[in-house]
Amino acid sequence: MASLTIRKLDEAIKTELRLRAARNGRSVEDEVRVILRDAAQHKLAGTAALPSAPQPALPRQRGTMAGEQPRVTLIIGGGIAAYKALDLIRRLKERGLHVRCVLTRAAQQFVTPLAASALSNERCYTDLFDPASEFDAGHIRLARDCELIVVAPATADLMAKMAQGHADDLATAILLATNRPILLAPAMNPLMWNNAATRRNVAQLIRDGVVTIGPNAGEMAEANEAGVGRMSEPIEIADAALQMLRPPQPRPLTGKRVLITAGPTHEPIDPVRYIANRSSGKQGFAIAAAAQAAGADVTLISGPVDLDDPAGVTVKHVESARDMLQQVEAALPVDVAIFAAAVADWRVVNEGVQKLKKTAGGLPQLELTENPDILATIARLRERRPPLVIGFAAETEHLMDNAKAKLARKGCDWIVANDVSPATGVMGGDRNTVHLLSKQGDEVRIESWPVMSKDEVAVALVERIAATAKDTSA
Ligand code: C5P
Repeated sequence: MASLTIRKLDEAIKTELRLRAARNGRSVEDEVRVILRDAAQHKLAGTAALPSAPQPALPRQRGTMAGEQPRVTLIIGGGIAAYKALDLIRRLKERGLHVRCVLTRAAQQFVTPLAASALSNERCYTDLFDPASEFDAGHIRLARDCELIVVAPATADLMAKMAQGHADDLATAILLATNRPILLAPAMNPLMWNNAATRRNVAQLIRDGVVTIGPNAGEMAEANEAGVGRMSEPIEIADAALQMLRPPQPRPLTGKRVLITAGPTHEPIDPVRYIANRSSGKQGFAIAAAAQAAGADVTLISGPVDLDDPAGVTVKHVESARDMLQQVEAALPVDVAIFAAAVADWRVVNEGVQKLKKTAGGLPQLELTENPDILATIARLRERRPPLVIGFAAETEHLMDNAKAKLARKGCDWIVANDVSPATGVMGGDRNTVHLLSKQGDEVRIESWPVMSKDEVAVALVERIAATAKDTSA
């Protein structure tokens, strides 16, 4: 196919094209494509000439033209990880995305514009003052004629410039001129990543709404250096880009307050010993993340676990059952309360103030007493009882009978029952098989769900809650 150089057109036509493009919310390049497509279609249909009046604008301010692939502007920064950006181009294209690359001056020390063009099948951009692309403000086009901007590798210098709003080269001018989402894949030496200036800049960029992926921990390109600073793998970055391009999910729990308990509790024997259980907290944390993603205002009260706090969730860390009950009561009122914690049933009455010593006189006598039942306490509240109270039943035998009995005994509305006998691998594992028991008047309705990941169980449970919670409020 012949390529057309707009630059060579007569000035009056260029002005007309710019105005027409602006009216239709398109770049000049896209406008010309639309005109040519319309002309070709009219010719095929036997009509004589170009329409004299501009065609009505396509109903889009953002997003792709119908039938086109979502477009990504990929800014390649100057670091050794730039070589992985070439693979990233392929990964993005494999996912059905159209990619246009911009290389900073430093990036060209590591990869060539020719390689990026060949892999993207598109011209590659390097220069802010390139007459071929700047006659119609090409940096604005690269900033806006896309649905997402990905910066990989995002160097410490590039992020510092972004955080400060610099625009002294093509990459930074695009990043300043864009109103599209930005995904950064930082890559640098661990000392640079941990430097206070970089930490400040990254924090600022996150506050500005930029999304980051990585960096990962591992070996550095420099000999004998390791730590956090490796760029995320191209597949991880491409998947994150795809995720950001998906239409926003419905948020059916917007305006609802959800309380979740998770993890084990630790019941002290003395200052260094405690009674615990094998709960990992994964299921409760997954529910908290799913409820947050569904728009809820989530408070997660967690016993000691080895998990990161879910983003956007208020997390209270506690040790014992009594601390957990206190935090639960402080979090009321809520619309939904989900008790996924594996609360210790007993605690030691005579908790040692000092470390218990081995004595010749025999074994220490540990007297146990019952812990407060948090679920039953909240489910039986007269005032401020949450409209929907959900408990868990983790059983190693007679699962359904025990779960039904628990539903009645605890006074909750639903029970999520799961078999935690060691053979199932549920305790500490990533998968779960659950049955949802719900009170329907005097009857108990039982739904058995297939084996799912704990994340999938969380999403399914939150969907059920959303369907029920529509009519409830604290
Ligand atoms: O009685 P059991 O421990 O089997 O009950 C499990 C359910 O009760 C779970 O939802 C758990 O979070 C909750 N529970 C509680 N406080 C306790 C014991 C259990 O909230 N002390």
